[in-house]
Amino acid sequence: MNPSQEHAWTALHDCYIVDVRRGDRETSVASDARVDWTAAFGRTAPLFVEIGTGTGEALAALAARHEDANVVAFEVFEPGVASTLSRLARENVTNVRIVVADAVQGLAALFEPRSITELWTFFPDPWHKKRHHKRRLVNAEFARLVASRLIVSGRWRLATDWTDYADWIRDVCDAEPGLRNEHDDWAPRFEERPVTKFEQRGLAAGRRIYDLSYVAADSDVPLDERPAALTRPLADGEQRATAERRAPLVANQQREPQIPRTAEASHNSAEQHAAEERQLAQEAQEAKKRPQNLVPPAEGRHLP
Ligand SMILES: C[S@@+](CC[C@H](N)C(=O)[O-])C[C@H]1O[C@@H](n2cnc3c(N)ncnc32)[C@H](O)[C@@H]1O
Repeated sequence: MNPSQEHAWTALHDCYIVDVRRGDRETSVASDARVDWTAAFGRTAPLFVEIGTGTGEALAALAARHEDANVVAFEVFEPGVASTLSRLARENVTNVRIVVADAVQGLAALFEPRSITELWTFFPDPWHKKRHHKRRLVNAEFARLVASRLIVSGRWRLATDWTDYADWIRDVCDAEPGLRNEHDDWAPRFEERPVTKFEQRGLAAGRRIYDLSYVAADSDVPLDERPAALTRPLADGEQRATAERRAPLVANQQREPQIPRTAEASHNSAEQHAAEERQLAQEAQEAKKRPQNLVPPAEGRHLP
């Protein structure tokens, strides 16, 4: 974290961050962890959730638009969370609480069945290599979990700038009986969603942006399912958290015995992040060299 992120983390941690009972990793959530969201927000309101908030660009804008909702954000990359904290404070957004932990385990443990009104997943990590596809956030098991946590008619909005991941998400969600594609096809751009740094990079590289919107159906999804695979710790290299926590943990937080993360695991996470950053920068450079008329128009493109 840079000094301003360090400062934000220390100053704003207790305003926005909800600490949860951990599993055996720094960013895991124990399967018996629970949060009383009414107490955490100091009010009862519809629950909205964002997974993978990055630096909070979409989170701050959307939470401000939905001030009558309690918005829970999951992010494992601490410098990103620190930037989000500054942004939320700067923009005076108060209806957000952040869980710095794996969203898959968090969704399973911290939310009752049929409790989430809207779930947002924008520009999830694409994990391009075939052998890394198993790390993709969206898979059949996760889609089933989402279907069980959304209220009936609750919505899961997604966006990606990678065609193969967009197709993959369509295949996974179309196969989930508890979800229904709201538009039978790609969704129109979710107009409340601001253009984030990740979307800008996709556009600059000439990629199309795909929005998707799935609605939870009143089906026979096993509502109390907390599958073992969802609560398993992520393998080394699947974790994206980097630095150690900078702020003291909230008192009374119970922790399961920690298995220290190996230097290799930290290295893998940082390396993956750096590799993705390099790839995106390279694509942006290549796109700049390309004649403008060869850049395919992005459907639903929304310029800042
Ligand atoms: C490509 S970035 C997109 C960030 C943001 N949604 C945007 O559009 O700017 C994906 C983010 O998801 C986070 N992430 C990936 N897997 C996660 C998980 N299992 N739980 C929580 N956050 C996760 C990453 O740390 C990263 O910040």
